Amino acid sequence: MTKRDHMADYDVTIRGGSVVSDTAIAMADVGISGDKIVAVGPGLPAGRRDIDATGRLVMPGGVDTHCHVEQLSGMGRMGADDWYSASVSAAFGGTTTIVPFAAQHRGSSLSQVANDYASLAAAKSVIDYSYHVIVTGTDRVTLEEDLPQLIRSGITSFKIYMTYEQLKLDDYQVLDVLAVAAREKALVMVHAENNDVIRWVSERLLAKGHNAPAFHGASHVEIAEAEATNRAVQLSRLLDVPILIVHVSAADALATIAAAQARGAPIYAETCPHYLVLTRDEMDRPDMEGAKYCCSPPLRDAASQEALWAGLLDGTLQTLSSDHAPYRFDASGKLPFGHATTFKQVANGIPGIEARLPLLFSEGVGKGRISLPQFVALGAANHARLYGLYPRKGLIAPGADADIAIWNPDREVTLSTATLHDRVGYTPYEGMTVRGWPEIVISAGRVIVENGQLHAQPGSGRFIPRTTPEPCAIDRDIGEQARFFRALADS
Ligand code: URP
Ligand code: ZN
Ligand code: ZN
Repeated sequence: MTKRDHMADYDVTIRGGSVVSDTAIAMADVGISGDKIVAVGPGLPAGRRDIDATGRLVMPGGVDTHCHVEQLSGMGRMGADDWYSASVSAAFGGTTTIVPFAAQHRGSSLSQVANDYASLAAAKSVIDYSYHVIVTGTDRVTLEEDLPQLIRSGITSFKIYMTYEQLKLDDYQVLDVLAVAAREKALVMVHAENNDVIRWVSERLLAKGHNAPAFHGASHVEIAEAEATNRAVQLSRLLDVPILIVHVSAADALATIAAAQARGAPIYAETCPHYLVLTRDEMDRPDMEGAKYCCSPPLRDAASQEALWAGLLDGTLQTLSSDHAPYRFDASGKLPFGHATTFKQVANGIPGIEARLPLLFSEGVGKGRISLPQFVALGAANHARLYGLYPRKGLIAPGADADIAIWNPDREVTLSTATLHDRVGYTPYEGMTVRGWPEIVISAGRVIVENGQLHAQPGSGRFIPRTTPEPCAIDRDIGEQARFFRALADS
């Protein structure tokens, strides 16, 4: 954070603020030329556009590596947000890079799915983006042609499911995809819940007429998450391949992850704002309102929240993602059969692409649970490192993309669907007041949010090909057993 260049002719300077990285805070100015940061240091000369950041925090734009945008769910439901509205909403919440999912559905071609998704994104996103693929097929073309090709073209991570009838892979298939990830150096994101446990409990609840949204929570028991997390960890161990457990919700699963990390296993993990600030009681709301709070894994209890905060603080959890799943409260999303919809038929997921960072800031930094550098790590830098976007994204330094959010740490905002920019029609955080808000957002050198207004055209965001994720690039001794099984997979 020291380089400065007095001769530079900056397009934009940000002066007088506190620049925050994932390791430090320093009073410094930032000089931007074109789409890049070119200088960071004290006393920079004014640029053509000079932003006074006195009293403000100058932070890397957020990176959200788990959000669902214009993606058909396993149940065949489409969310309310397309690439335009999701990217606008992300930008207003201080996020300047999103990485949602191109979802393969059984029988569909992975490369076709990815191509179609890329076209949607290119036409509409107002911020930079990449995407992961969701792999539901382990046929020869998917594993030997499409997936390796996608990884080599910069889609260096993919998600797999251990639950949902329409999406899940069995353990044999999981090993197949892990072998591809090991060979191609891609990061595998795992939705870890035991499908049979959930199915067994659900069928018995439904048979007794327990249909209400609250029983979603009862059916997705913590044991299902803990068992699948442990299984994912053990499967990864066979080949010693990095995996990232997404949307960790409970203490049991977290303990399994921490134990694996303690013995040096390449296990990474994420949680989401809703697990930190909401509890399962929300699913008890009357008139099917509880359906708005059904996600998988489900909301848990106050003890789980405390465990997750501790996991964010001690580094067991590296990222906080929104898992934005923008299902409307109508037949298109949450309630396909209106008030007769059973908990099993409710679309799973909670919106939050815009509220993600303000919630982490207010509940985390504001309440003394995490530091400012940890906020940057959890909201931006770790995402960039883990998913092959670093050092282009996630930091403020010469050479990085000029993706910056200037936060007013004292501004209070009451979250409401009336003022958020997604198209869902409700927010689970309605009426909640957060302290700290990103007032100016800069994407690739363009001031795209200022004074509550958007200054960006659909399609102005860029596709960012990703490099090898850091966990896959680390040169580790994988040990004799994993070497043997990797060789077996390659033969
Ligand atoms: O309930 C959730 N998390 N819905 C979104 C899809 C997923 O599994 O992440
Ligand atoms: Zn998931
Ligand atoms: Zn998700």
